[in-house]
Amino acid sequence: MTCNPSAPFDTQVLEAFAPSPSDPLRPNPDALERAARWLREGVPVVIPTETVYGLAAPALDQAAVAAIFRIKRRPLDNPLIVHVASDEQLEALGVSLSPLAAELAAAFWPGPLTLVLNTSLALPWVTAGLDSIAVRFPAHTYAAALIRRAGPLAAPSANLSGRPSPTRARHAALDLAGCVPLVVDGGDLEHGLESTVIDARGERPVLLRPGALTVEAILSRCGREVALPDAADPIRSPGMKYRHYSPRAELWLYPRNSGAGSQRLIEDARELRRQGRSVAAIARLRPDVEHYVQLPGDPRELGRRLFDWLRDFDERGVEHVLVESVSRAGVGQAVMDRLERAASRIRHTDSELLQTRGAEP
Ligand code: TXA
Ligand code: MG
Repeated sequence: MTCNPSAPFDTQVLEAFAPSPSDPLRPNPDALERAARWLREGVPVVIPTETVYGLAAPALDQAAVAAIFRIKRRPLDNPLIVHVASDEQLEALGVSLSPLAAELAAAFWPGPLTLVLNTSLALPWVTAGLDSIAVRFPAHTYAAALIRRAGPLAAPSANLSGRPSPTRARHAALDLAGCVPLVVDGGDLEHGLESTVIDARGERPVLLRPGALTVEAILSRCGREVALPDAADPIRSPGMKYRHYSPRAELWLYPRNSGAGSQRLIEDARELRRQGRSVAAIARLRPDVEHYVQLPGDPRELGRRLFDWLRDFDERGVEHVLVESVSRAGVGQAVMDRLERAASRIRHTDSELLQTRGAEP
């Protein structure tokens, strides 16, 4: 499926890197030049970052940012992250770092941390009318080089709204081919999960979206506990109210490390197969399914590969993906957040259904 049947572009794919003997991560000058040219003309392009692929447009260009929302079919009340590559660019956005933000930025920028901050500039087309702005300084060599050249870039993940974030150029192209003139291919990404979004306007960091940077890392580097948002405060994190990251297949989630949970997964797989369904599983033990991925022991590896596997299963026509939960420690917190959002059903061992959006097998 592409974004639009009357898609105007013959999408070109260019490599992000042109390695030289001394610099394997040298940004490809041609890919920088072409992307910068399209961005100057106000046309969004797909770029790699260290987290997921982004659909980028100049943050100060209202029409170009509006095109991002159109292309992604993104709800207009869901604000975008602005990506910067210097303190000067932050200042140009009217952002001054609070003491807390300065501390977090010093520890984790460039990197997979997005800070929600106050701004003196009104950019309602980026912020969806909120009085705060989300900013991030990516660690990806190509992305940073492009931002230095083209200025601050607003960039959501480069998927159609609701689909898993793309962690491969090919996946972004499958969603957006024809709607963007250029996809810059950075190969495999360092994290494969979106950035961690922290509200840094107050005294304490507040977690708006768990992501590639763990709360444990914030505690150990800065000595700061990350608080959860007040449930009574709905507009703090508009994106979190949407169901997200969904493959086309139904995703069912099972308890972790539990004999009864594994048994349940094995039984569901058997029953679905008996009904002639195409089933995939991500679990410690292999059930009787067509497509199986062994649950990695390292949650970072699962984080890196999860979206990739979900999209691959979709391409193979899988109808049900059965996934065993992992510990919420470290990157596991973000992985479980994505899995719970993607899940149409969360299984308990005792056959109680915590949540269901799909039909019984
Ligand atoms: O890793 C990432 O963050 C990727 C790469 C491309 O940088 N970007 C990304 O963007 O995941 P997106 O648009 O898919 O997610 C942005 C999240 C949404 O949940 C949105 O609601 C939240 O950030 N956000 C943006 N501005 C905000 C603000 N002013 N206040 C609260 N939340 C905000
Ligand atoms: Mg997204």
